[in-house]
Amino acid sequence: MQRMKVWDLPVRLFHWAIVVLIFFAWGTQEFDHMEWHVRIGYTILTLLLFRIVWGFIGSDTARFTRFLRSPLEGLRHLARLRRREPDQEVGHNAAGGWMVLLMLALIGIQAGTGLFSNDDANTEGPLMHLVGKDQSDWLSHIHYLNFMAIEAVIVLHVLAITAYAVLKRQNLVRPMVTGTKPMPADAPAPRLVSPRWAVLTLAVAAGVVAWVVRL
Ligand code: HEM
Ligand code: HEM
Repeated sequence: MQRMKVWDLPVRLFHWAIVVLIFFAWGTQEFDHMEWHVRIGYTILTLLLFRIVWGFIGSDTARFTRFLRSPLEGLRHLARLRRREPDQEVGHNAAGGWMVLLMLALIGIQAGTGLFSNDDANTEGPLMHLVGKDQSDWLSHIHYLNFMAIEAVIVLHVLAITAYAVLKRQNLVRPMVTGTKPMPADAPAPRLVSPRWAVLTLAVAAGVVAWVVRL
């Protein structure tokens, strides 16, 4: 066996930052700190843009082409959920990959609709003027409904990770924290891209968001 680096630092930082920021996005609107809600929304949007680009240019395990396999393979993977076997997955498994895509899409819809939302008080998304009040009300409603979908998917996500721990005795959380997991000595390691490229991508993503919200 060898300890193999499967998750690069950018993916891990992205993940745990998203967890914290989604919690605060919920909290800030719940306790009416909308100024902060909007700032957190922009930050999430920036991270999401970064993650999408990293899904094309980043390390092997971050790439969409690598972890999006056929839906049939995903179902086949789920059929083996109760089988206790060592974790030999380098990156997301065939079912998890689709879950990741769904989560990223929902977070995108949330941050995207937020830009056009209003709360009938003193908060308006920076692009509300492009659509007018009626459409903005409708998009605010989608913003509200979509967050319920996000909550449901988060519960499913955590339940799935718990199921892997209980049924398969596989600890998926540790690699998402440390980046490494024990793998057979002959397993080929994924190619990791320098975090410097991630910093550059993040800077460009921040620039794009800053430009969009000033339109
Ligand atoms: C706000 C809540 C959460 C959201 C939105 C979220 C979202 C995500 C996303 C988007 C990924 C894919 C990472 C990537 O490829 O960039 C992921 C993976 C993962 N998340 Fe979460 N997550 C949340 C909470 C949690 C929590 C609480 C845990 C720990 C119990 C966790 C553990 C993991 C693990 C272990 C993976 C990797 C799964 C694998 O091995 O394929 N997540 N999550
Ligand atoms: C992924 C990031 C975001 C999350 C998780 C999020 C979450 C939420 C939630 C849970 C609500 C409460 C919905 C309700 O109960 O009515 C809300 C409301 C709102 N959010 Fe966001 N939001 C995000 C991004 C944004 C962004 C980027 C903006 C604007 C720049 C924004 C602007 C608003 C506004 C104006 C409301 C009030 C809507 C109303 O009262 O109908 N949000 N958001």
